[in-house]
Amino acid sequence: MSADRDATPLLTALIEQGNKPHAPFYTPGHKRGVGASELLKKHFGDRVFRYDLPELPELDNLHAPTGIIHTAQELAADVFGAEQTWFLVNGSTAGVMAAIMATCREGDKIILPRNVHQSAIAGVIHAGAMPIFIQPEYDQELDIAHCITPEAVKIALEMHPNTKAVLMVSPTYYGVVGDIAAIAAIAHSYGIPLLVDEAHGAHLGFHSDLPPRALSLGADLAVQSTHKLLGAMTQAAMLHVRGNLLDRGRVSQALRLVQSTSPSYLLLASLDAARQQMARLGKELMARTLDLASTARKKISQIEGLSILGRDLVTSPGFQDLDLTRLTVNVTDLNLTGYGADEILHDRLGVTAELPSLRHLTFIISLGNTAEDIERLIDGFANLARYHRGNKALELPAIDLPDLEINTPTITPRQAYFAPTKTLPIAAAIWEISSEFVCPYPPGIPVLIPGEVITPTAIEYLQAVLAAGGEITGCRDSNLHSIEVYSS
Ligand SMILES: Cc1ncc(COP(=O)(O)O)c(C=O)c1O
Repeated sequence: MSADRDATPLLTALIEQGNKPHAPFYTPGHKRGVGASELLKKHFGDRVFRYDLPELPELDNLHAPTGIIHTAQELAADVFGAEQTWFLVNGSTAGVMAAIMATCREGDKIILPRNVHQSAIAGVIHAGAMPIFIQPEYDQELDIAHCITPEAVKIALEMHPNTKAVLMVSPTYYGVVGDIAAIAAIAHSYGIPLLVDEAHGAHLGFHSDLPPRALSLGADLAVQSTHKLLGAMTQAAMLHVRGNLLDRGRVSQALRLVQSTSPSYLLLASLDAARQQMARLGKELMARTLDLASTARKKISQIEGLSILGRDLVTSPGFQDLDLTRLTVNVTDLNLTGYGADEILHDRLGVTAELPSLRHLTFIISLGNTAEDIERLIDGFANLARYHRGNKALELPAIDLPDLEINTPTITPRQAYFAPTKTLPIAAAIWEISSEFVCPYPPGIPVLIPGEVITPTAIEYLQAVLAAGGEITGCRDSNLHSIEVYSS
């Protein structure tokens, strides 16, 4: 790798093509910016359009790469510890879908946590697979769902030995990393691959104070949103594979089904450049990021009324490690919800979080943050606490998560999704089959998945989350007055 450390084959070829004088009679219609809106050019600059090119002969083909994309992907595989890497222009969403479609055929079983991202549900629907859901470890006190445990995977595989793959999310949105090594070993003992949705982990492995990346712990496939944590542009992501438990031809085939035939070279080149940046400076950039995060962690936890999710706070078996660049701050002792604190920080204090929830605010600290950002974050919290200190702590009802594992789908999510549906008032929908995905935040664990029976417990739980100030996502009626059900 070291010989190629500085090479950016894709970016370099794109710049060459963009700068080459010629008459363009191909897409996109703006023809290297000449036809682009003046308003757009005023704000974005001219140059970006010059490099917004299609799959010209010199620029290879994302869906059958043999040239610069192939080389850039090989370099990325090397840097991210994979044997083969695919560039993605539709985020980890496309990668997670393709991972499932590459491993499951119609009716095949796949084990996955209930708190999967909706892209995994989309993958299950596209593949026609039957999901075997495992409830992730849920810390009621923190109100945060962690990862699935090796024990739970073992039990699920004993019950469903003909399963085709195990998928887990690690790190979670909160930076929690699960026991990937043990889960990989269990999956491998059944001869099946472990697929890891590592959307929040493209930076892992570049510094010894960060958790290792999933592939280095035995995972067979990992999908990373390069755009979320590294320097690539939004939607630019990667799918990495190791070992021989996956049919790599099927991965390519699945990606052809879920990605555009006109991939943006701006996104692809940003992946090439982000890879080169990490190859050259990864350790240094991550050391700086960890330092900034450590300052924020230390200073904010000294502010009365605030506490931060740390390695010491968690004793769950679904918690193996924590990415310390991810900051989750509990604000309930200030008599605020995470949503309320988010509004004040965003509207009045110039600080914008990644994810508010009922009790917390979660912040992503990455290579793009500066010492000034961290100061502003600390000052923002100091101000927030000054105005809200002394208020009694917010009392939120403890809501018991229902046992969702008993709700095995009667039909596949695909059958439920494509079946005729009808809308029913919520009270009339009990014991019907949901055709909707219904996910409350917190804790982000879907309570209903297309194909599952709508139980009274599920509805009571969802209504309790709403009453406590939480949100319902994924379904048409987020107030949950009505729901779409399977109409047989
Ligand atoms: C766990 C998880 N997986 C997958 C995705 C999808 O990633 P992308 O936005 O890159 O498509 C997300 C997005 O937030 C996510 O949180």
